[in-house]
Amino acid sequence: MTIRNSLQPTVSPTLPSSRETSSSARLRARAAQAWNSLVDDSIDQRARRRPVATEPPCRRLGPWRLGRVLGAGATASVFEASRAGDERPVALKVFHESTTDRLAGEVDAHRRLRSHPRIAELLDSGQTRLEDGRLVHWLAYELVEGGTLRDALRARGALGEEATLRVSREIAEALEAIHDACLVHRDLKTENVLIGPDGVKVADLGLARRERGGAGAARLTEDGGFVGTVAYSSPEQITGRDVGPKTDVWALGLMIVEMLAGRNPYVRSNPFATASAIGQGLDASRELSGSWGRIVDAATEPSAVKRASARTIARELERFAKPRNLRGVAKNFLMGAMLVAWMPINAGLRGDVGIAMLGLFSVLLFGFMRVLAHGDR
Ligand SMILES: Nc1ncnc2c1ncn2[C@@H]1O[C@H](COP(=O)(O)OP(=O)(O)O)[C@@H](O)[C@H]1O
Ligand SMILES: [Mg+2]
Repeated sequence: MTIRNSLQPTVSPTLPSSRETSSSARLRARAAQAWNSLVDDSIDQRARRRPVATEPPCRRLGPWRLGRVLGAGATASVFEASRAGDERPVALKVFHESTTDRLAGEVDAHRRLRSHPRIAELLDSGQTRLEDGRLVHWLAYELVEGGTLRDALRARGALGEEATLRVSREIAEALEAIHDACLVHRDLKTENVLIGPDGVKVADLGLARRERGGAGAARLTEDGGFVGTVAYSSPEQITGRDVGPKTDVWALGLMIVEMLAGRNPYVRSNPFATASAIGQGLDASRELSGSWGRIVDAATEPSAVKRASARTIARELERFAKPRNLRGVAKNFLMGAMLVAWMPINAGLRGDVGIAMLGLFSVLLFGFMRVLAHGDR
């Protein structure tokens, strides 16, 4: 079942290239600073999380030396861990029970996906027999040094437009890759979105299944429980109809609302009331306006057939991001042009100085055209 034995180095943050203008480098630096502070807040919040134990029950698990607890979900606890010979620590997902269904689905999904920068990478998998005879299954993931989107929301309430745009674009990129591999995540929620220094990494493909194939569809289980999480479940998931890629798009739409408005519009005091609110087809975007409202409407269309695909949402977000950058650049450009026009007039200058000013004006115009052509993100 081993996927890979060697642990790969993580990607270092991109530095501005020498061809970049100083203003776009400044913009990048400011965006990176804002992102780092979001990561810090989510790490801080992760440290405050209760009631997850902060220490592992034992220090060793087979070849692994366990460190702090990173998080826990319905099926597993995740520890920082390292083993002899590997320099980099990993996030070791240790399953609570030796039920292999979910684990096998998770490994299979990663095998199909190979690696993607927006999906936490599976590095290795295995099992260890404990002294009491129990068999413990584990998966070793690249360690994402940050918290989850849930942590970030707990720390900040809402995230603001800039961070929302980045997080939602990167989730949409991950979804594109998942759907291109004919998979459906089926459990996309804020706890399964990791906010790391290199951006977003979608985690927990434990419920991911092939797009077609009855066994994979999310619906009420035999014992009457839900597969997945009610708060982000799509109408087709709630009503036990066929679940496809559009179910993940629904969850993304709700996360966008939550990032902007600070709350999931469907969450009620209990799972039944939440499920009923989703079934009633309330307008998820009612607190949003303009482009955000349109994007959320497209992602949370109650009919899965009419709902937008992850690719369409990704393109919409991209289009939305571009004019926002350009507006800032256009403002600077206009101010520069006004200054250039005012200086020679004010100084009563003509001749060479006027030509020099014209040259400066052309440089500004050239810079503006380049940004128009390539975007600035
Ligand atoms: N690669 C990772 N790096 C850092 N923390 C992680 C990583 N993967 C998971 N976690 C943390 O562990 C928690 C549970 O992991 P998850 O895979 O979602 O388990 P479950 O299948 O039980 O829900 C996540 O919500 C997150 O806090
Ligand atoms: Mg999870």
